[in-house]
Amino acid sequence: MTIKGFIRGSKLEGKVALITGAASGIGKATATKFIDNGAKVVIADIQHQLGQETAERLGPNASFVACDVTKESEISNAVDFTVSMHNQLDIMYCNAGVPCKTSPSIVDLDLAMFDKVMNINVRGVMGGIKHASRVMIPRRTGSILCTASVTGIMGGLAQHTYSVSKSAVIGIVRSVASELSKHGIRVNSISPFAIPTSFVMDEMSQAFRGLDYRELLQMVNNAGALEGANCEPDDVANAALYLVSHDAKYVSGHNLVVDGGFTSFKSLGFPAPNEVH
Ligand SMILES: NC(=O)c1ccc[n+]([C@@H]2O[C@H](COP(=O)([O-])OP(=O)(O)OC[C@H]3O[C@@H](n4cnc5c(N)ncnc54)[C@H](O)[C@@H]3O)[C@@H](O)[C@H]2O)c1
Repeated sequence: MTIKGFIRGSKLEGKVALITGAASGIGKATATKFIDNGAKVVIADIQHQLGQETAERLGPNASFVACDVTKESEISNAVDFTVSMHNQLDIMYCNAGVPCKTSPSIVDLDLAMFDKVMNINVRGVMGGIKHASRVMIPRRTGSILCTASVTGIMGGLAQHTYSVSKSAVIGIVRSVASELSKHGIRVNSISPFAIPTSFVMDEMSQAFRGLDYRELLQMVNNAGALEGANCEPDDVANAALYLVSHDAKYVSGHNLVVDGGFTSFKSLGFPAPNEVH
């Protein structure tokens, strides 16, 4: 159906999704995409007011549940809330995550911060998968998705703590897929390149205090490898739609990298032969 040039899909007609960290950024873009494709979406986030506002803006097929992914009872409650509201849970997207604002050197590693970030980015994902599985296994169907990162694939792209937390997410997906495949449940992750959401821009503005928003945005976008395009929340939302839809019915244990090729290659940086005399 086309409404004023807007194309509504039906890939997720009749499906129910729970997305953590969907008050803003990638999660919000994915909630929008899922709803535009016929799903009912529950937004779970620690930001209560923003989460409510996002749900209201997305219309009657969106609702909000307060959830801090570091608290198992709140994850469990978010899953039960979704099932009591819509009778089922088809898609669990463990997307909530935080950056790590500490010194880049291992020598100065802040272990308290390490615990805090792992608690959200890793334990929070484990909890989400645990409680989604609790309701998906009896139905012998479901799709679980997690947001990892290019920083979990290659070293040197972020502080150790964040990088390690995202490597763990990729590992979680592989480990859990091995069990859940026996129950007909698929588990995948997406590893995006840097996207100028508040997550990245807050960190950038702290690191480069002299630069304005436009200059910081240019820095983020210039870091990409693919000419003519920048990584945007919608690129992740499109990948998420593919992975949770029937189009990916035989894809599980996969980490879909959305990085314009960045982690696939390195250049030797030699001049072109015709530039050397
Ligand atoms: N932006 C990027 O460049 C980028 C790249 C790769 C991966 N990621 C990952 O994408 C995910 C989403 O990030 P984003 O860029 O959309 O940032 P964002 O800050 O816009 O969104 C993150 C959301 O998670 C929520 N959140 C934080 N802690 C939470 C908790 N304890 N419980 C529940 N919700 C919590 C926040 O309130 C926020 O709404 C994160 O896992 C992040 O690590 C981001």
